[in-house]
Amino acid sequence: MNDKIGIAVVGAGYWGPNLVRNAQATPALRMEYLCDLNEARARQVIGDYSTVRVSTSLDDVLADPAVQAVAIATPASTHVDIALAALAAGKHVLVEKPLASTFADGAKVVQAAEDAGLVLMLDHTYCYTPAVQHLRELVRGGDLGELQYLDSVRINLGLVQSDVDVIWDLAPHDLSIFDAVLPDDVSPVAVAARGSDPLGCGQVCVAHLTIELSNGAIGHVHVNWLSPTKVRTTIVGGSRRTAVWDDLNPTQRLAVYDRSVETHDPSTLGIDVRNQTRVSYRIGDMVAPALPEKEALRSMMTEFAAAITEGRPALTDGRSGLRVLAMLEAAGESLRSNGVSVPVQVQA
Ligand SMILES: NC(=O)c1ccc[n+]([C@@H]2O[C@H](COP(=O)([O-])OP(=O)(O)OC[C@H]3O[C@@H](n4cnc5c(N)ncnc54)[C@H](O)[C@@H]3O)[C@@H](O)[C@H]2O)c1
Repeated sequence: MNDKIGIAVVGAGYWGPNLVRNAQATPALRMEYLCDLNEARARQVIGDYSTVRVSTSLDDVLADPAVQAVAIATPASTHVDIALAALAAGKHVLVEKPLASTFADGAKVVQAAEDAGLVLMLDHTYCYTPAVQHLRELVRGGDLGELQYLDSVRINLGLVQSDVDVIWDLAPHDLSIFDAVLPDDVSPVAVAARGSDPLGCGQVCVAHLTIELSNGAIGHVHVNWLSPTKVRTTIVGGSRRTAVWDDLNPTQRLAVYDRSVETHDPSTLGIDVRNQTRVSYRIGDMVAPALPEKEALRSMMTEFAAAITEGRPALTDGRSGLRVLAMLEAAGESLRSNGVSVPVQVQA
């Protein structure tokens, strides 16, 4: 019992209960507190028959030596203050996406964690799905060949938020997936974004991001709160194979197409076939890899506990949160400048 890591979850709204449930199901963790400004909401989440304590005081929770780690599921604008307080109290921190509302604030949190030698991890949930983990191996292991493009669509009838636009609400998922699968020698260079607010609600509800990558490949993200149909697909195209992930198709979430388009040097072709044969299509099999059915949040919590125990950065560490913030900030600046391409600044 005592070698378990005591954890407090802060935030009992829509997402916090998922963290509570998965922390309770993680053998290396011991749920100590659920903290929320709204005591009744936290009590309702914990129920009557639990040893987990409910608190409205973050200070009390942070002062308790039984707590070694804090998971933050409060609105984005509160992440920095809560994370800095937890780190100052010597607690490891798991924080919901996005890490902060600005890159500069995110950098402060990353620096504080690194100075204190504590784990700072982002809940980039999708990075822990079996599909993205497989995609990561395919791309980084070179199975797809040279990376040519990434294309991600995340659209449905979504809750129009008052404090964030659709890019800050939904695109962290796609951008964190891109960040997880990109090979180490490929990075985002610039972002161009266009968006619209057809409802006149003061927030961009439909947006398209184009991301220029350092190897010349292109990334695209379409996020939309106004689509009556729900689509969750990510396509990663390579020179040899293309992977298509459809998160809403449980019988075939991932499909890998052994197909490619090849070009030929015209000087090697006879004059009569030059125009027709500069490009040829190679059509091979499609394979749907068998993926385990595992809850991503469970794997994410297990990774948080393992990073603490092993004293190592988590797969989605604070730096990955900063890289996502850098792309979100570039997208925001581009939106305000009519879609011009804005460099991604990742220096903390
Ligand atoms: N990983 C995912 O897939 C995913 C999905 C949904 C939401 N989220 C993220 O989770 C976070 C929370 O989103 P939500 O939809 O649950 O919000 P929410 O508004 O439903 O809940 C937030 C809760 O935090 C509490 N709170 C606010 N400030 C607090 C403070 N200072 N101290 C203690 N409690 C405080 C509120 O009372 C509320 O109960 C956001 O960062 C969001 O982006 C992540």
